Amino acid sequence: MRDAPSDLVEAARAARRVVVLTGAGMSAESGIPTFRGTRSGLWERFDPMALASPSGWAADPELVWGWYLWRVGLVRAAQPNAGHVALAQWARSAPVRVVTQNVDDLHERAGSADVVHLHGSIMAFRCSECGAPYDSGLVVAAAAAASGRPALQVAPPRCRECTSGVVRPGVVWFGESLPLGAFEAAVAAVEEADLVLVVGTSGLVHPAAQLPMVARQVGAFVAEINPEPTQTSGLAHEVWRSTAASAIPALVHTLWTPPCKDTPLEGF
Ligand code: APR
Repeated sequence: MRDAPSDLVEAARAARRVVVLTGAGMSAESGIPTFRGTRSGLWERFDPMALASPSGWAADPELVWGWYLWRVGLVRAAQPNAGHVALAQWARSAPVRVVTQNVDDLHERAGSADVVHLHGSIMAFRCSECGAPYDSGLVVAAAAAASGRPALQVAPPRCRECTSGVVRPGVVWFGESLPLGAFEAAVAAVEEADLVLVVGTSGLVHPAAQLPMVARQVGAFVAEINPEPTQTSGLAHEVWRSTAASAIPALVHTLWTPPCKDTPLEGF
């Protein structure tokens, strides 16, 4: 287990309120692909405008629905990694809130109760016309039947309430607004925090990318956990070039290991 940077440990020990901002890198070690910065990134392999935008949905709802069924299958097959688990453990003994850009449910499945989803949830579905929620169990079953192929065209189901609309994923597409109150809740949490940990995000997508700056403006200690440099790195007081599943358990382990007192040797 790699040692946590001492400045971060000190800030974490002193912190009254901690906010952990997570991005796709948080779930990378659970086998869920990130979007950028690697050949296997989703936006290296697929066109975001065709698959994650209102215009793409209008142009070919079957292609979009089939792609999201594939992603639902990836999330269902994934397990929370040691980083998700360590965050949930940490929150049991300290005021730690998670603000995530991720649409997977791995933080919740690891036991995190207080999670703000800025970009919605891939396990929530609603009618594209009347907004009525749609049973995720039916979608999970359809995802299993779609046999894990990303480019399958599958007709989205009809809304059972209004019967005229078709069902869409409950995620935020490019050009759409964030869920009502989500960003406000994230800003409020960061404004109260004295430690903000930024894990696994390239810091490219707004408004989420503004949160580390808000943290600096309120005087919080900002630390980044990411194996690569990002747009946030220059803002951080501490940059830990490590991964979520290595670094977060190492930090939490250190926090739970009482600091050795500099007590002088006695009896010598
Ligand atoms: N641990 C920590 N960080 C990692 C790991 C890991 N194991 N693996 C990769 N990373 C880092 C990468 O270095 C990169 O900086 O995670 C980051 C992933 O960046 P993106 O793929 O851009 O993901 P994210 O920043 O979450 O994207 C934001 O863009 O497409 C939209 O809505 C989508 O929420 C997403 C948003």
